[in-house]
Amino acid sequence: MLHPIIMAGGSGTRFWPASRRQTPKQMLSLVPGGTMIAQTVERLGDLAPPERCLVVTNERLVDGIRELLPQLPASAVVGEPAKRDTAPCIGLAALLVTKVAGDADAIMAVMPADHVITPVDAFQTAIRQAVDLIESNPQAIVTYGIKPTYPAEIFGYIHRDVPMSLSTSEEIAPSYHVKEFREKPNAATAEDYVESGEYYWNSGIFVWRASTILEALAEHQPQMLAHLEKIADAWGTDQQQEVFEREFTAIEGISIDYAVMEHATDVVVIEAPFEWDDLGGWQSLSRRLGTDDDGNTIVGKHLGLDTTGTIVRSSDDHLIVTLGLEDCIVVHTPDATLVANKHHEESIRKIVKELESKA
Ligand code: GDD
Ligand code: MG
Repeated sequence: MLHPIIMAGGSGTRFWPASRRQTPKQMLSLVPGGTMIAQTVERLGDLAPPERCLVVTNERLVDGIRELLPQLPASAVVGEPAKRDTAPCIGLAALLVTKVAGDADAIMAVMPADHVITPVDAFQTAIRQAVDLIESNPQAIVTYGIKPTYPAEIFGYIHRDVPMSLSTSEEIAPSYHVKEFREKPNAATAEDYVESGEYYWNSGIFVWRASTILEALAEHQPQMLAHLEKIADAWGTDQQQEVFEREFTAIEGISIDYAVMEHATDVVVIEAPFEWDDLGGWQSLSRRLGTDDDGNTIVGKHLGLDTTGTIVRSSDDHLIVTLGLEDCIVVHTPDATLVANKHHEESIRKIVKELESKA
């Protein structure tokens, strides 16, 4: 059976001040259609019934996320007691679907909670294609490759090898064996990759049998798996919370990309037949939402004169007026306002760190 696993424990700091500790990026409505996480669940359509979805997030976000996803039973939202990146999140999910839910042959479709993907039917077809692929190649780790448009350093890269099989129907996206997976290369390497034309960006969506990823974790992260197994063994007992806290915090944080993908064999890439966007920050949101004749992206109440290339986001009917602004980001929230030069967008992370250290 297919089990959708939604990873929702990220912090999305580059969207500060809209993104906060209690309401990070995945809980915001950044593009039309609802919150990122609600859109992620809706995108699944009838791939799996809601009760088979599992959302793994940080414990402080559990209540808020349950509210945003009323179609899911409360037990479908699991809160980690500490942030340990995506490998433990995925390992725990694999154990919960196999050991706790009892589906030994479970296939997991693991996905981030904060991406823009259109159209939904192409996404669903692509997930079904992966499931078919796994039926005939049970050990396969299926990834979705995005054609790179620039030498990004913030994505994983997938080096495609020979085709799996020639696509005979327009419904089926091309798929390839994978030579190498490389997480977040430096600029020079990324440039070589993009120039070669043989690399895709990793979309961050994976499909595999739960048993496949558990075997990979046993090989590459045996200590992590041992902690996770103790958690799964205590699940549903009186000790669940105590063991969860103790064992999970003892894990060393690492992403699935470094922990498994860079070492895995039997990786397959499907050329994503959908449009994909990892909304990284305000400028990428502006690219997504589009700009007016003056190059501005405006969300909310705004009045401007001689304002160009600027992103304005207001909330609660608050009016923002900009005069003679060029290439700026102005984001108002009830208790914090950002006014930044666009070229300083990366510094938002520094500010958030500083604010956290003072909190
Ligand atoms: N439960 C849980 N716990 N979820 C987490 C945690 C955690 O500790 N850390 C991150 N997540 C969630 C995020 O909310 C996001 O939905 C997803 O996992 C991916 O994490 P990111 O931190 O956003 O990863 P990334 O963007 O740096 O890199 C990954 O995604 C890229 C595509 O967007 C990698 O898979 C790259 O290879 C890939 O290109
Ligand atoms: Mg990301």
